[in-house]
Amino acid sequence: MNKFTFSYPTKVYFGEGAAADALKQKLPRVGKTVMLAYGGGSLKKNGIYDELKGLLQEAGKEVVDFSGIMSNPTYAKVQEGAALAREQHVDFILAAGGGSVVDCCKVISAQAVMDEDIWSMEYTEGKFPAAGIPMGAVVTASGTGAEMNSGAVITCEEKMWKGPIVGTAASFAVLDPSYTASVPAMQVLSGAFDTLSHAMETYLGTSDKDNVSDDAALAIMRNTVVNMRRLVADIHDVQARGNLMWDSAMAENGILKVGRLTDFQAHQIEHQLGAYTDCNHGQGLAVIQPVYYRHILKDAEEKFTRFAKEVFGEDTAEAGLKALSSLIEACGLPTKLGQLKSRVPITQEVLRQVADTCNIIKCNPRELSRGEIYEILCECM
Ligand code: NZQ
Ligand code: ZN
Repeated sequence: MNKFTFSYPTKVYFGEGAAADALKQKLPRVGKTVMLAYGGGSLKKNGIYDELKGLLQEAGKEVVDFSGIMSNPTYAKVQEGAALAREQHVDFILAAGGGSVVDCCKVISAQAVMDEDIWSMEYTEGKFPAAGIPMGAVVTASGTGAEMNSGAVITCEEKMWKGPIVGTAASFAVLDPSYTASVPAMQVLSGAFDTLSHAMETYLGTSDKDNVSDDAALAIMRNTVVNMRRLVADIHDVQARGNLMWDSAMAENGILKVGRLTDFQAHQIEHQLGAYTDCNHGQGLAVIQPVYYRHILKDAEEKFTRFAKEVFGEDTAEAGLKALSSLIEACGLPTKLGQLKSRVPITQEVLRQVADTCNIIKCNPRELSRGEIYEILCECM
């Protein structure tokens, strides 16, 4: 293993009834005014909103609603939430939703306690927030692992850029697989693919030959694939959803990343595709990742071969990538850009802009040129 420092801020409550366990334990320690933040309405339909609000009221909290956090949350929504948090003197934020709600709240938390614009602070001055309104996360759609880290992915519409902003990590996370029961099949599977992608992109980064992180990443990938297949057979399999929920957290809580560099080039391309099209994150990755990997196969053949053997039981790197594509097809995930829901037609001009503006990872396994990224995107058409 290479040298590393690891510390961990989030307490996890996993399993049925975890929300009540967490809130009963944590709420007495936080201030009176709690912002309950959520997305576009699913939580009102499935009863989770009422359950959480009831627990907050039982604990004597004043609840400030913040709704309408969209998938691929925007910087404007962050500022709206931060303004509300200041105006209502919010003491604690409870984010309930998928990665989008959790990410938006991480940045609201930090922005609400500072006068400076957080985007400019991070992107132009290279400074990161040292404080924030404390927050907790209740995961209702898993895949991103956003509940166990401080990084958020936010779309700045005026800059046409979707990228990372460091915010506040949740002090606790509720992972109750039964809360995901109403998530549509396509979102469950695209979330699971996102998890697989996180572990793969981490594994493909530069590491020592012999290290725990590679082994742990392969184990998470294997388990994710097994449970995605279980969901293809029975989308309501709660045990599989629970396994995937923990795979999701494990893939992004930093444990797989210790002592190594990571790749995340597929994520950089997808995020910028998201800035232009507002496409679903996991589905965008499902289209891009196999094509990207075919391009870099020779640069990391040994790793791809090990991936093929340990995740898919295949002998060669090529066969492993074919098995990855077959999994994507079996899940009914998109395999072409044209199958993604997009707010604009995905033309070559759009792809050129994505290629020209996306972040390029400087190593791992190999630095791509913008021309090559454009080629990869064109191959995804
Ligand atoms: O908005 P509502 O009505 O709640 O519906 C949501 C949304 O439409 C629905 N949903 C959530 N819980 C549900 C439910 N529907 C029925 N029943 C429930 N219990 O699910 C839909 C998708 O939600 P969203 O949060 O957008 O999806 P996801 O969890 O995939 O998050 C995607 C965002 O996370 C970012 C992505 O870029 C994207 O912006 N990521 C964050 C990461 C991080 N912070 O570590 C890492 C990832 O790589 C990723 O980039
Ligand atoms: Zn992701």
